[in-house]
Amino acid sequence: MNVLVVGSGGREHALVWKLARSPRVKKIYCAPGNAGTAALGENVAISDVPGLVAFAKSRDIGLTVVGPDDSLAAGIADAFEDAGLKIFGPKAAAARLESSKAFAKNFMKRHGIPTAGYQEFTDSLEAHAWCRTAQYPLVIKADGLALGKGVIIAETPAEAALAIYRCMDACVFGNAGNTIVIEEFLQGVECSLHALVDGGSWLLLPDCRDHKRAFDGDLGPNTGGMGTICPSGSLDEALLSRVKSEILDRFLAGIKTDGIAFRGMLFPGLMITREGPKVLEFNCRWGDPETQVLVRRLESDLLDLLEACADGNLSTQSPAWSPGGAACVILASGGYPGSYEKGKEIRGLDDVSSLDGVVVFHAGTKPAPGGGVLTNGGRVLGVTATGSDLADARARAYEAADRISFDGLQRRNDIGAGRAI
Ligand code: AMP
Ligand code: GLY
Repeated sequence: MNVLVVGSGGREHALVWKLARSPRVKKIYCAPGNAGTAALGENVAISDVPGLVAFAKSRDIGLTVVGPDDSLAAGIADAFEDAGLKIFGPKAAAARLESSKAFAKNFMKRHGIPTAGYQEFTDSLEAHAWCRTAQYPLVIKADGLALGKGVIIAETPAEAALAIYRCMDACVFGNAGNTIVIEEFLQGVECSLHALVDGGSWLLLPDCRDHKRAFDGDLGPNTGGMGTICPSGSLDEALLSRVKSEILDRFLAGIKTDGIAFRGMLFPGLMITREGPKVLEFNCRWGDPETQVLVRRLESDLLDLLEACADGNLSTQSPAWSPGGAACVILASGGYPGSYEKGKEIRGLDDVSSLDGVVVFHAGTKPAPGGGVLTNGGRVLGVTATGSDLADARARAYEAADRISFDGLQRRNDIGAGRAI
């Protein structure tokens, strides 16, 4: 079968890498892809939905796998299904669970899914007035997709006023900030959950932990994720059983009651609080860099799994996961998540290709004109390793990361080193 992966990040390289291992895959295309995906298949420079539909038809694509949230929110799955093409990823109406935080919070409230208490505002004067008497800290969220920048933790009424002003009055996130959600601040340990949902059942993948802050010790600004470990070390049997009954079962019952046809990946960001697991947000896609560690531990065929999900046949699947652990250390451009330079030569990639258990996934990279690879984004590489346990995987990932360099390289040295509960 020919397969198309949509997106250009580390997540997409990881998906392409794993799909390329399926004996059923004939050729893989990635739109637009990066230097890593170019080495495993063919990159195609198409980003508009009608163009992708036409391309999929012309190349006899049997399954399209969508990475980014904005493509799903824009209705890529609707367009593919209307054209009779098979696609992994929910339609726009279901992807609203990610693309509208207010919609997601109302869904959770309606169906008893544990989450932070909240208020929704469409009027900035009302939001300003409410924040003058609220308990702090609190969390202010732009309703729509805001490239991961639409969540502000306000410690004081002045910080809340500024956040509301930026979202609702100055419109720095465009229409995404016309509605805001103001939430209770939750304390605990974060955990990334991934579950395939085929409309009638869910299939839980191993739990991961992302490291969202830019610098060691969970300091600095929030990023898309500076590294992941799998398993997270935060979910014991009792918590896992609550996750299944209080979040996944209620999610499934909720979409059935509300008539939401959800087929694809459900990735709830969780806070494990003293009261139990609570959902911070729903994502309707694979996490980045969670995907990098998940595909390293998946022993079964990813194509079988994604196709069964898209077909509504998840119950036929029982994927195997490698024992031990996996870790991913992101190598980023200096200045990320703020402004950074591109076009730096990456050194050392050949050195690490022979290291045991190590695979380097590309994110913001592009082939250099005379050979070699150049930086081309904020997050540049995801250095992944599997090991007999998490400590082993971590040591291998850092050994490989130490051998790779480019001007301005920025990374965290404490991925997987923090305390879990
Ligand atoms: P979100 O995009 O909603 O997952 O938020 C991004 C990040 O903000 C999360 O990964 C958390 O670190 C933080 N966050 C979001 N909501 C809350 C909350 N209610 N309490 C504490 N931290 C939060
Ligand atoms: N790593 C977090 C995300 O993909 O949203």
